[in-house]
Amino acid sequence: MADVIKVEMSERLATITLNRPEALNALNAKMLSELTMAFEHLSMAADVGAIILTGAGDKAFAAGADIKDMAGLNGMEMQRFSEKGRRLEDVMAACSKPILAAINGYALGGGCELALACDIRIASDRAKLGQPEVNIGIIPGFGGSQRLPRLVGAGWAAELVFTGDSIDAATAERIGLVNRVVPHDRLMHEARALASKILAKGPAAIALAKACLRAAQEMPLAAGLAFETSAFGLVGTTQDKEEGIRAFLEKRAPAWKGA
Ligand code: CAA
Repeated sequence: MADVIKVEMSERLATITLNRPEALNALNAKMLSELTMAFEHLSMAADVGAIILTGAGDKAFAAGADIKDMAGLNGMEMQRFSEKGRRLEDVMAACSKPILAAINGYALGGGCELALACDIRIASDRAKLGQPEVNIGIIPGFGGSQRLPRLVGAGWAAELVFTGDSIDAATAERIGLVNRVVPHDRLMHEARALASKILAKGPAAIALAKACLRAAQEMPLAAGLAFETSAFGLVGTTQDKEEGIRAFLEKRAPAWKGA
């Protein structure tokens, strides 16, 4: 049986591919566990600077949590399944490397929620996004009711969650659900180009910037500002700060050491 996720490395860029194209990459428990382990590993790997998450095949990023698997679950089991998704997304938030979703088709339900847990979302012009859970009598279970309103505002989140409607890529871009839309056959190229830009920056600065952006989602303003001040002090202790400033003053490109 094929691996449910694939992890590939090219230079300092890791690409994770959800690999159940026959089920439109629907997320089952095995995939959630393997994704959690992969992000934990990549977060610690010194030779990784950024991660792209995408779906196998031409149709889907992920069409949601696996409905066939959920059919047999009772309430407690549904809760555990949701907790599994939450653990994965906690690991993605804590991951010290930026995560870019390359949304190559349907990103529905748990698939949309997985994209929401990424730091940046780039969509193919064929992508369709939505939270269709109410169509099958359930609610978002992998963080959609919390991350979606934070990203697009309460009104759009309510419309998407209450109607179950999918929106096209252009609408997703307009409401801020995705950063940008690109032609389908350019998606991976554009995602890699954006990742390369990030990979050219100081790794310690990127890791601390991600921690600060996460604090902005989770902390009241005063606590978040204090967190940023401490992180600014911490980045001031790194070799990357020494090298970055010296390179600027010497009018050359920096040679990062990564701490
Ligand atoms: N779970 C399990 N299998 C799925 C799936 C899902 N979420 N989405 C698609 N599939 C399977 C289909 O059952 C089908 O398999 P079979 O050939 O064995 O029947 C295969 O993928 C291809 O799908 P379709 O034939 O349906 O493809 P389509 O092009 O006609 O339709 C679609 C595409 C509109 C995305 C449709 O598949 C669909 O509506 N999927 C379900 C979307 C959904 O409701 N997602 C939310 C799930 S609940 C959730 O995610 C909870 C949570 O928040 C944690």
